[in-house]
Amino acid sequence: MANPLLRVFSGLTASRRTVDTVIPRRTFDDVVLPPATRRALDQALVHVTSHDLIFNRWGLGERHPTGFALAFNFAGPPGTGKTICAEALANALGRRLLVVRYAEMESLWMGETPKNVSAVFRLAREEHAVLLFDEADAIAARRSSSVEHGFLREANTVVNVLLKELETFNGVVIFATNLAANFDPAFERRMSTHVLFEMPGVHEREQIWRVQMHPTLTPLASDVNFRELAEQFEVTGGDIRNAVLKAATAAAGEPGRDTSKAIHQRHFQDGIRDVIAAKRVMRQSLFKPGDTDLAGDDRAQAVSSLLLGAWPALVIGIVALLVAVAALIVALVR
Ligand SMILES: Nc1ncnc2c1ncn2[C@@H]1O[C@H](COP(=O)(O)OP(=O)(O)OP(=O)(O)O)[C@@H](O)[C@H]1O
Ligand SMILES: [Mg+2]
Repeated sequence: MANPLLRVFSGLTASRRTVDTVIPRRTFDDVVLPPATRRALDQALVHVTSHDLIFNRWGLGERHPTGFALAFNFAGPPGTGKTICAEALANALGRRLLVVRYAEMESLWMGETPKNVSAVFRLAREEHAVLLFDEADAIAARRSSSVEHGFLREANTVVNVLLKELETFNGVVIFATNLAANFDPAFERRMSTHVLFEMPGVHEREQIWRVQMHPTLTPLASDVNFRELAEQFEVTGGDIRNAVLKAATAAAGEPGRDTSKAIHQRHFQDGIRDVIAAKRVMRQSLFKPGDTDLAGDDRAQAVSSLLLGAWPALVIGIVALLVAVAALIVALVR
């Protein structure tokens, strides 16, 4: 890692890197997308390639020096392929990918964030890299009109600095987010293309199961049926990836010679069920163990049942308070 700036960002601790340079390996052939998402991505790519033609080779960049940035918004639920597509886009452009994890940067560098945002753009310029603000939900949030608190002032400054950098940055920036609705409107206008990553349909899921296998080396049993898995489980590409790894681990862990081992349909089914169960645990409600998503009415009911459950403790507390007050009065009267 020769670049001193990169060393400053990533050298703090190996486990908490805020900026990573990635040499992209994955291509658009590794990604399976719903048609609308694919069209928007193709459009983004054309934007980049024709941008070079128009602004550099046709010389229009000299006449229009501002408004250069090619900023893309990749929005969609977790595991729908935003990060992998950023890598594929960088690959298609023959550039490296500079991945910024903004949340980490902010927590590590409280008070210094605006300066570091500028430094990241400088670094991308030097490395001629595609810049990816991964998990950018926080950074692009709306500016607040209340600036009483230091952190709100800093958040506003960060957005202002970002907007300024975007005006003059002669490169490609991607913002990946699960919560595009939070974006500051000024920020939204600077994005040249918005790509919505939708949940994959049955056809896409079947293909995603397939692309997760090695074309020749992964041993699949004859009962494996990806279409059936795709129809049975409505999940994201990220879930499928995790299920495949679980299935492979389970198959490899079974007794017997390695050469006779193979991944069966049941391994994939168990793997994806595990992944779905793990997601349920993560979404578990505090109010009703076992429920994942509580609707408004259910939530109100859960709150009232919680209050009902707290009744005895409340009564005991009030009685104890009354006894204490009575004891105090008796002590004072004596
Ligand atoms: N559309 C897809 N086609 C093929 N593989 C996919 C797709 N979506 C996800 N995957 C697989 O899941 C992994 C995780 O996807 P990725 O990190 O790109 O999701 P993400 O949208 O960036 O999620 P997050 O919002 O959590 O960051 C990828 O490395 C890939 O193996
Ligand atoms: Mg991601």
